[in-house]
Amino acid sequence: MPPSVRGAVGTLASGAYPTIVRRGGRATQWTKRPDLPAANAEPAIDAAVPVLVTWQHPATLSPNPFPTPFSTLNPEIGMTLALDETDRAVGGPDLPQMRKVRTSIPGPRSRALLERQRAALPAGVGSVLPVFVEAAGGGVVVDADDNSFIDFGSGIAVTTVGNAAPRVVQRAVGQLQRFTHTCFLVNPYESYIAVCEQLNRLAPIAGPARTVLFNTGSEAVENAIKVARTVTGRPAIVGLDHAYHGRTLLTMSLTAKNRPYKHGFGPFAPEVYRAPMAYPYRWPAGPENCAREAADLLTDLLDRQIGAENVAAVLVEPIQGEGGCVVPAPGFLPAVARACTERGILLIADEVQAGIARTGDWFACEHEGLRPDLVTMAKGLGGGLPIAALTGRTELMDAVPPGGLGGTFSGNPVACEAALGVFEEIERHDLRARAIEVGRVMRAALLDLQRRHDVVGDVRGRGAMMAIELVKGGGDPSPDAELTGRIARQCHQQGLLVLTAGSWGNVLRFLPPLSIPNALLDEGLQVLGEALAADA
Ligand SMILES: Cc1ncc(COP(=O)(O)O)c(C=O)c1O
Repeated sequence: MPPSVRGAVGTLASGAYPTIVRRGGRATQWTKRPDLPAANAEPAIDAAVPVLVTWQHPATLSPNPFPTPFSTLNPEIGMTLALDETDRAVGGPDLPQMRKVRTSIPGPRSRALLERQRAALPAGVGSVLPVFVEAAGGGVVVDADDNSFIDFGSGIAVTTVGNAAPRVVQRAVGQLQRFTHTCFLVNPYESYIAVCEQLNRLAPIAGPARTVLFNTGSEAVENAIKVARTVTGRPAIVGLDHAYHGRTLLTMSLTAKNRPYKHGFGPFAPEVYRAPMAYPYRWPAGPENCAREAADLLTDLLDRQIGAENVAAVLVEPIQGEGGCVVPAPGFLPAVARACTERGILLIADEVQAGIARTGDWFACEHEGLRPDLVTMAKGLGGGLPIAALTGRTELMDAVPPGGLGGTFSGNPVACEAALGVFEEIERHDLRARAIEVGRVMRAALLDLQRRHDVVGDVRGRGAMMAIELVKGGGDPSPDAELTGRIARQCHQQGLLVLTAGSWGNVLRFLPPLSIPNALLDEGLQVLGEALAADA
């Protein structure tokens, strides 16, 4: 098991105090202990039982509120600390930030759990990397066999502020102790409103906005369509090629890729249409013609094929996630927005994956100054807890009559507190700037890989949402899904968690948490480079 601290009895320097003490698997949260004398105090910890202690020194509180990892304690704190193999890992930024592969991947404990999974779960539920997680935080995921993976996935762009981020945990734990649920539709609570107020301020909506909360990205997209149909009185929804919007009937219908998302699940929802995506790398007439031609094809679909007067909304991902981190050709999204405005069609930006600081802005729309009518978000919003939101122009959102929006669990109070913790983490650590820096480091390394390996056909993305598209090479841009699978597996074996994506399964996606230390980011990119070199 991961090392922890044992027998932590000693002398504290002035003002230092233990924040978390775990004994026998139980965790006790201590805030500042007024009973501790200021200097040379001895905390009441029994050295005879295994304990895990993390220390927080006032000097570490500002500007960085992350507790100092025990491994880097200032010696002036004067504790006698010994590493112990008996305790279990605690997640969050205290987790030792290292890549460590102790066993074959998956290791024996994970393989045993996988057997149980196979006996208990349907085959349709799979995992990218079936190592069973014990703890995660900073930039690592630690499994049941004490392997520590560099996290380039963030649970598919969810733990943007870091796994078990301190403000998220603190707020969620506090809420769990107060009440777990009332159903906002029965008895409201303040945190729901606070999340909505914040999103009304932040979302790239022109003019006053309103927000409603849900549990999943799919639900938020479904509800955006409900609002758009109510407002316009029109049935049709236009999505894009390579899009992914979810697994419910309507969002699955709007999702482009057949396997594994749609095959056998039809018939699909009616009045769903699809326009080509402005995908620069694969545009037949070249990237320079991509935005204009794709916009023309969209307007042709609206005017000639469907009839603009029948179209309620056009739904776009400002950067496509599952479709392979495809950044639309510059100018395409503004052209779509103009086409919608001219025709009384609403523009829905699905920011479920790209939103909430991942790309360096609060929302990926902002990059091209896009002002959609409705914005959906989810993943990064709850720091790992399930919460989703739909924000839109007030007059649109108010069109749905009372009772038309909501759900039993929507805007759960624990998830709302977690979201408030996410906003705090982003502001405190200036995580938007961090996303830009992570993107700069990744792009430089990935472009270098492209120079060295002609199978790296394209490098793209923005901020901490980057990808490479792998092709046959030697001038042949045909997608190479087998190579992509091999490289992903090799990275996994070497302790780097990467995700695949793309309509042809030939994209490697990199979505690290913004709490990842620079050293781990560099090391992860090096592991990727070694995997590519080994396959050459
Ligand atoms: C852009 C986008 N929209 C919607 C969804 C669906 O979200 P959920 O899985 O929370 O239903 C996803 C999930 O990956 C997504 O990336």
